[in-house]
Amino acid sequence: MSGQSGPLAPGRATTAAPADPDILPALETPVPLVDLDRLERNLDRVAGYAAEHGLRLRPHTKTHKSPRVLAAQIARGAVGATVATRREAEVMASAADDVLLAYPAVGRAHAARAAAVAGRVRLTVALDSRRALDDLSDACAAAGHEAGVLVEVDVGMGRCGVGEPRAAVELARRTADLDGVRFDGVLFYPGHIRQPPAEQMEDLDALDARLEEFLAALGDAGLEAGTVSGGSTPTLFSSHLVGGQTEIRPGTYVYNDRTTAAIGACAWDDCAYTVLATVISTAVAGQAVVDAGSKALGREPLRGGGEAGLGALLDRPDVVVARASEEHGILDLPSTDWRPAVGDRVRIVPNHVCVSVALHEEVVGVRDGNEVERWRVEARGRGPAAPPGEVRPIV
Ligand SMILES: Cc1ncc(COP(=O)(O)O)c(C=O)c1O
Repeated sequence: MSGQSGPLAPGRATTAAPADPDILPALETPVPLVDLDRLERNLDRVAGYAAEHGLRLRPHTKTHKSPRVLAAQIARGAVGATVATRREAEVMASAADDVLLAYPAVGRAHAARAAAVAGRVRLTVALDSRRALDDLSDACAAAGHEAGVLVEVDVGMGRCGVGEPRAAVELARRTADLDGVRFDGVLFYPGHIRQPPAEQMEDLDALDARLEEFLAALGDAGLEAGTVSGGSTPTLFSSHLVGGQTEIRPGTYVYNDRTTAAIGACAWDDCAYTVLATVISTAVAGQAVVDAGSKALGREPLRGGGEAGLGALLDRPDVVVARASEEHGILDLPSTDWRPAVGDRVRIVPNHVCVSVALHEEVVGVRDGNEVERWRVEARGRGPAAPPGEVRPIV
């Protein structure tokens, strides 16, 4: 890998537009809004980047959990879906014919659900243990289906993934010997690289070298890793600098969030998802209380610095949800003259969008301040999915 920095890493923009206290007055709050223009811009930008660099784009659907958004990604050239849960796999199999379960399906029940998905679409599963491999093989062989296997390798995050090239070779060899599974390649997740894109080069170089060790060991053993799956939103626009990578799995980029903007991996204006909330109390001086608490926003820490809290106002990023109970969010107002009235509405950008999305049943798509459509967050929860719903591409 060369020492260049990513060419498309967007800058930060935090210009405050005037808040519209009457936005979407007919909607009950708290409710998640998706700005469709921003969503489409985010989808187009990343689809363009992947195409330009010959990388297969397999977006992680854990961020939106909706076949509606996956269909829009596929319409722009995505090769399939990445999922983390069995339910996501079941739901996304209604919108994609190629699904990667980037999570080991350990245990009979989990493996059986994965095997059933392999009967519907081309399924690949990432795993890092004999037990996960044997469970998948047993379930697929019993069901008469086949699943691809990506051996997960640890390139620095220290979460999942074998740490030694020898272990990757062993798992790949064993895959070749078992029924119901085939060896397709390797998967890694650079989740440890979360600093601003311009400061990532050293870590990306180390990752690149580490990955090369795994690929060389597999190659020496005569095991070709046809797929080398990596990628994340913070490292997205440097993906082409990682040697050997064939596909990327960014998730957060569809909506972005306060953390992604704080580290400079997107502009504030790229945040497409907000939680619309109503001011329900201003009785205590110096603050306003909104009806979006931790059960609407999540309680994720802000990475990348700035005032902490649970989220910030879209139109006034200096105003943060400083504290929250389950259904109350406390806007701290010491740094601003702005004083909202009870009944005013605000849009909140959560710290970590994926967690907020998973707390809601439905999302409202808006354009120019008007509600245009709604879609269900169909893959939330863990139980088996209902029969596939209608999929409507973005028009
Ligand atoms: C295995 C895996 N791949 C890809 C992603 C996508 O990362 P991001 O949301 O930063 O785009 C995640 C995120 O959790 C992940 O766990």
